[in-house]
Amino acid sequence: FDSIEAALQDLKAGKLIIAVDDENRENEGDLIGIAEFISEAEVNFMATHGRGLICAPISADIAEEAGLSLMIEDSSDPYKTAFTASIDHKSSTTGISAYERFRTIRALTDKTVDSTEFNKPGHVFPLIAKGGGVRERMGHTEASVELARLTGASQVGIICEIMNEDGTMARVDDLVEYKRKHGLKMITIEALRKHVENKGAVT
Ligand code: 5RP
Ligand code: CA
Ligand code: ZN
Ligand code: ZN
Repeated sequence: FDSIEAALQDLKAGKLIIAVDDENRENEGDLIGIAEFISEAEVNFMATHGRGLICAPISADIAEEAGLSLMIEDSSDPYKTAFTASIDHKSSTTGISAYERFRTIRALTDKTVDSTEFNKPGHVFPLIAKGGGVRERMGHTEASVELARLTGASQVGIICEIMNEDGTMARVDDLVEYKRKHGLKMITIEALRKHVENKGAVT
């Protein structure tokens, strides 16, 4: 695994990193990017080489400003992943192209964002992070919003699970090979939690 500092450097440069959660949790590796720093090329990479669901983790503040509330209040998802209604930026045509999903996600970072910016339902899935970040919940949702905070960017991430070519989920052994092939940094959410505990949360 790589250091949190090395991962933050790549994220600030607009690159994607891989973050793995606990093997007793989802045991998944998600590609993570920071909405303010990525371009449509990273969305295309996620769709091509990630092959999971492309979601946009956001802080509760941004969710409120954008008029997004939980899709299901009494969630029965084992991990209670905090999906809101899906969205498309109002300028979208199909909503699914790499550029249109990029545009939708980037709009969440606008200082003046409000609910009139989006059509619902759409093709991007916002997820609301817990206010305590990875100290409160060790999900990819909180990890990406925490990483966005640590880069000083607006608290909007973009994530996508990594699925193997045979349709199974990529586990750590597969991910080591994957990170080499694509030249990506890889961290654990556990290491990020330790980093935040040592440095204090940047809020
Ligand atoms: C949406 C998901 C993913 O697992 C994603 O990583 C967000 O969930 P969590 O915060 O629970 O890890 O379910 O594709
Ligand atoms: Ca999940
Ligand atoms: Zn996850
Ligand atoms: Zn998942």
